[in-house]
Amino acid sequence: RPLTPCAFALFGALGDLALRKLFPALYQLDRAGLLHNETRILALSREQREEVHPLALIDEHVRRHTPANELDQSVLQRFLNRIEYLSLNFLNTEDYKTILAEHIEGQDQLIAYFATPAALYESICTGLAQAGLADQTRVVLEKPIGHDLASSRVVNDAVARYFPENRIYRIDHYLGKETVQNLIALRFANSLFETQWNHNHISHVEITVAETVGIEGRWGYFDQAGQLRDMLQNHLLQLLCLIAMDPPSDLTADSIRDEKVKVLKALAPITPDLLPRQVVRGQYTAGFAEGRSVPGYLEEDNANRHSNTETFVALRTEIRNWRWAGVPFYLRTGKRMAQKLSQIVIYFKEPPFHIFAPEQRALISNRLIIRLQPHEAISLQVMTKEQGLDKGMQLRSDPLQLNFSETYKAARTPDAYERLLLEVMQGNQNLFVRKDEIEHAWMWCDQLIAGWKQQGDSPRPYPAGSWGPVASIALITRDGKNWYGDL
Ligand code: BG6
Repeated sequence: RPLTPCAFALFGALGDLALRKLFPALYQLDRAGLLHNETRILALSREQREEVHPLALIDEHVRRHTPANELDQSVLQRFLNRIEYLSLNFLNTEDYKTILAEHIEGQDQLIAYFATPAALYESICTGLAQAGLADQTRVVLEKPIGHDLASSRVVNDAVARYFPENRIYRIDHYLGKETVQNLIALRFANSLFETQWNHNHISHVEITVAETVGIEGRWGYFDQAGQLRDMLQNHLLQLLCLIAMDPPSDLTADSIRDEKVKVLKALAPITPDLLPRQVVRGQYTAGFAEGRSVPGYLEEDNANRHSNTETFVALRTEIRNWRWAGVPFYLRTGKRMAQKLSQIVIYFKEPPFHIFAPEQRALISNRLIIRLQPHEAISLQVMTKEQGLDKGMQLRSDPLQLNFSETYKAARTPDAYERLLLEVMQGNQNLFVRKDEIEHAWMWCDQLIAGWKQQGDSPRPYPAGSWGPVASIALITRDGKNWYGDL
C-alpha cells in the first residue's frame, strides 16, 4: 500500500514500553522504508529530565534494543530527525491547544499512542478533542484496559465519547506476532486442517505461555493484576479465539472479530464449585531461573510479604458449541518458569480401530504443535515405522516440520510492535481488539476472580525455574493427559 504521512504522537514517550519497544519498532519501520518522508514523531512526556536530553535517551535505547547488524547510522540519524520532544501536562487541556496543535499543523492524520496508565486516557482524549484534533485522529490504547469489566467499561466509554470504534486500536501485542497471524493462514488456507478441526477429530487443545522473567521491577502494577489479568485475560484468550473460531467470511477486521466474540461468549463459565478441579493458581518461591538463583515473588524488591497474587495460572475449560462440544482446552501461563515457551498443541484423536500391537497404541496420536516463541515453528507429529529388518511393525512418531527461522534464514522476524504500528498507520484494525472482545473476556475472568475471592483461595507455591505447582500437572493427568514437553 502507498505510504501516507502522519504525525505520530507518543504519550508516555519516556516510559519503559516506549523506550524498549516502540521507538526501536519505529526505527525498524524507517529502516524498511515504511515511514513516509513527511511522517513526524512527537515524543510527549510529563517528565522534565534534566540529566539526559530525551532525544539522547531515545537514541541510546534504539541502539540498545536493535541488533548491531541492523543499526544503520544514516537511518538512525534520519529517524532521530523526525522526532521532536515536547513536555506536556497531560491533564491540562490548554497544553494540547498551545503546544500540541501547533506542532501538528499541516498533517491530515494524527496517530495518538497512549503508552500511559489507563487512568490518563480520558484526559488525553479530552485534551485532543478540545484542541480540535479528534476528527483527524486514530487512538492506540495499551493494555491493561481496566482490571475488570466495570473498570474497562469506564475506560472504553470515556474514549468512545470522543472517538468512534473504527478509529480506536486496542493493542494485544500477541496479535502482532508472525506465528499468531500464521494461525489464520494455517487454518483457512489448508483445507486439510479445517475439515478435521472439531470435536470429531480433536481430543484436546493445550495453550502454554511460559515466561522465565519475574516481575522486573513492576511489582506495584503486577501485584494488583496477577497473571490471570496480565496474561490470560488477553494474550491466552486471544490465542484460544484464533484456534477455536469459525472461518470468517472474509479477512476484514469485523468479520474476524465477530467470530472471536462468538468463541468468548461460548466459553464455559468456571463457577466457584468448579474452581478446585479446574483452576490452579501458583506463586513462585526462590529458585533458579535464567541461569542464576532468583528470589521468590514475596522477596522481590518492594514486595508485600503477604501478597496472595498469582504469578501462575493453569485451567481447563470448554467451548460450548457444535464444533467443540466436549473438547477440553488446557491453558497455563506463569512467570519464572523453566523455559520461555509459547506454544499451542492440538491433539488429534486416536484412530477408531487398532490394528497395531497393544504396546504400540499409547504412541498413536497425531499432534499439531504451533510454537510462537522461541524459534517459531509448526510441526505435525505423524506416525511412521521404525526402519530395519529387525524392527517389524514398530511405530515411531516423527515431525513434519516447518521451521520459520530456518525457512526464512535471510529474513529477520519483525517484532510484534513493528507490525502493529504499521497496521495503525495503514488504518487496518484486523490485529486489534474490539470493545466487545475485551468485555466478554473480562466477564469470563471476573467470575473466576470472584470465585477465588469468595473461597479465599491462596496460590500454591512453586520454585522459580520449574513448570509450576504440582497441582497443575494433576489438573491434566486427572483427565489421562499430559502437558506437552515437560515430562
Ligand atoms: C505483557 C505482560 O503483556 O506480555 C508481561 O504485561 C509479559 O508481564 C509480556 O512479560 C510477555 O510478552 P512476550 O512477547 O515476551 O511473550
